[in-house]
Amino acid sequence: MQKEGKGKEEILQILENKLKGDFSYETGYILGSMCTTPLDFGKEVYMKYLDKNLGDPGLFKATADLENELIAEIGELFNGKNIIGSITTGGSEANIVAMRIAKKVRPDIKNPEIIVPASAHMSFEKGADLMGVRVLKANLKDNFELDMEHFESLITKNTCGVVGVAGTTSLGLVDPIEKIGRLIEDKNIFLHVDAAFGGFVLPFLKELGHDIPPWDFRVHSVCSITADPHKMGLGIIPSGGFFLNDRSILHHAGFEIPYLAGGGFKHFHIVGTRPGGTVIAFWAIMKYLGMEGFKKIIKQCMDNTNYLAKRIAEIDGLKVAAKSVMNVLGITTESGESICELDDEFRKRKWMLGKFTEFNLIRVVLMPHVLRDHLDRFIEDLSNIVKKLDIS
Ligand SMILES: Cc1ncc(COP(=O)(O)O)c(C=O)c1O
Repeated sequence: MQKEGKGKEEILQILENKLKGDFSYETGYILGSMCTTPLDFGKEVYMKYLDKNLGDPGLFKATADLENELIAEIGELFNGKNIIGSITTGGSEANIVAMRIAKKVRPDIKNPEIIVPASAHMSFEKGADLMGVRVLKANLKDNFELDMEHFESLITKNTCGVVGVAGTTSLGLVDPIEKIGRLIEDKNIFLHVDAAFGGFVLPFLKELGHDIPPWDFRVHSVCSITADPHKMGLGIIPSGGFFLNDRSILHHAGFEIPYLAGGGFKHFHIVGTRPGGTVIAFWAIMKYLGMEGFKKIIKQCMDNTNYLAKRIAEIDGLKVAAKSVMNVLGITTESGESICELDDEFRKRKWMLGKFTEFNLIRVVLMPHVLRDHLDRFIEDLSNIVKKLDIS
C-alpha cells in the first residue's frame, strides 16, 4: 500500500483505465448474460441507502419491515398468501437455502437426495457439495422437455426434495411444475421452483396474454421459489430472492445469532451482514414500474426474441434449438455439427454469448439492454461466420 493517499480525480482516472477491459451493457455485446444494468431510479435509491445492514435487523428494523413488505408483495405476484422469505445475493444462494431446508425438514432421511432436471443450474451441485446431499439429475427428452418418467423413477425413500425450473438457464423453458407436484403429493417431499430468471418474466407474460401453465404457489405442493431481482427485475447486482410458503419452517430450520444489538432472530441466510440498500432499491423499482411498466419491458424483450428467431430461421445451416417461451433463445446447427467453433468466432468479434456444450447450443438472452440494431449487427456477423465455417 502506498504511504500517502492520492487525489480523487487521479484515482477515478486510474480506475477508468483499469476497467476499460470490461464489457458494458450499452454496446450490446453482452448477449449471454441474465443480468442487466439496474434501472436508473433503483441505482439512485441504492446510493442513498447503501449503509443499511440487514445482517442486524434489530438496528435497521424499518428496513427489515420493508423487506417483509416486499417479500409479501412478490409472494402475491406469485399467487401465494403470507409468503415469507428474503432478498439474497442471487439465485445460487436462494437455491442453496432451499436445499438446506429440504434436507432439514427431513431429519429421518440418513442419505438425503434431491432430484433436479438435467437443465438445472450449477448452484444445486454447489449446494450438494456443501451439504453432503446427493443431487440426482432427471433426463431431458430430445426436445429439451423434462422426461417425467425418468424423474418419477428417481423418487425413493431417500428423496427429501425435488426441483422444477421455471425459466431454464440454457433455454428459458418452464418445467411441468404441476406434474412434478402430483408426483410428490402426500410424500412429505419439499418442492422448490427455481424461477431465478422466470420469476420476473412469467407473471408479466401471463398478463400480456401468453399461455403460461401454473408454475408458482398456485400449485399447492410448491413450498418455495427462487426469483431474482437482479435478472429480469432490473434490480441492483447482486440481489436474488427466496420465497417460502410456511413460516413455521423458520422455527426449526432457522439460524439464530444471539449477540446482535437488535437481539436474537431466526433467519435462513448463508451470509451474515447483507445489504439493505438492494432491498430498498427493489421495493422502489416495483413501485416505480408497477405491472404496466414491467409488461412494457417484457414485451420489448419478447418482440426482440421473436425478431431474432425469425432472422436465424433465414440462415441456412442454423436453427433455434427450441421455441422460446421467454426472452432466451438457443441457436444450434441444423446438421447436429458442433456449435463450439461458432462460439469461438463470436468471441473473436467480441460477442459474449453463453455456450452449453452438453446441449450443443449457444444462448442469447434478450435482456432489456439488447436493442434491435445490436441484433442486426449480430446477425450480420453470424451470417459471415456461418459462411466462413461452411456450416450447412
Ligand atoms: C435458473 C437459474 N437459477 C439460478 C441461477 C444462479 O443465479 P446467480 O448467478 O444470481 O447466483 C441462474 C443464473 O443464471 C439461473 O439461470
